[in-house]
Amino acid sequence: MLLHIPDILSRDEVARFRRALDGADWTDGRETVGSQGAKVKRNLQLPDASPLREELGRAVLAALARNPLFHAAALPQRTLMPRFNRYEGGGQYGFHVDGAVMALPDGEQLRSDVSCTLFLADPEEYDGGELIVNDTYGEHEVKLPAGDIIVYPSSSLHRVAPVTRGARIAAFFWVQSLVRDEQQRRLLLELDASIQTLTRSGADAQALLQLTGVYHNLLRQWAQT
Ligand code: NI
Repeated sequence: MLLHIPDILSRDEVARFRRALDGADWTDGRETVGSQGAKVKRNLQLPDASPLREELGRAVLAALARNPLFHAAALPQRTLMPRFNRYEGGGQYGFHVDGAVMALPDGEQLRSDVSCTLFLADPEEYDGGELIVNDTYGEHEVKLPAGDIIVYPSSSLHRVAPVTRGARIAAFFWVQSLVRDEQQRRLLLELDASIQTLTRSGADAQALLQLTGVYHNLLRQWAQT
């Protein structure tokens, strides 16, 4: 399932990010992938050790923590510190699957269940640069307003189309979910959404209590901590 979550960052936050990123020192994005990825990846990234990456990455994590829909969809257990990339001048990233296990700075590891791209440039600023995701339902093309995020299963084959005008700036990162199985996460998200809708519509309190119990007991069965 692909999920578009709008307004993770406000317009002011996007502007602040862009002022910092437009003057940043970028390096070759091939430094953070294996040999298979390096063959198809043509972009720029903020170096992992860059203080700006740390600063903006923390701001992204704080913004995510404020967003109930992101939490309901990803059910995050651990999240990789976001990285920042820039595609321009024909830059692209050919079809690939993201690495399954990633090293964290503290020596722990993260299993990538959910892939996330936070757009930091508006669609009018560049041509091309669509994120193209192949999942069981076919091919999806994604190009979102700055400040919006797309969340999709890390198991999917995906690519970034060549940027032929302007620059595509984004943050990207991975989440290890409490619920490893994508179908189970989807069911929980749908259940969560219907409970919220029923709550707003003033549905029967006893039935709502029961349904909320079902949600938590399913999560209890499926969560791996
Ligand atoms: Ni990828």
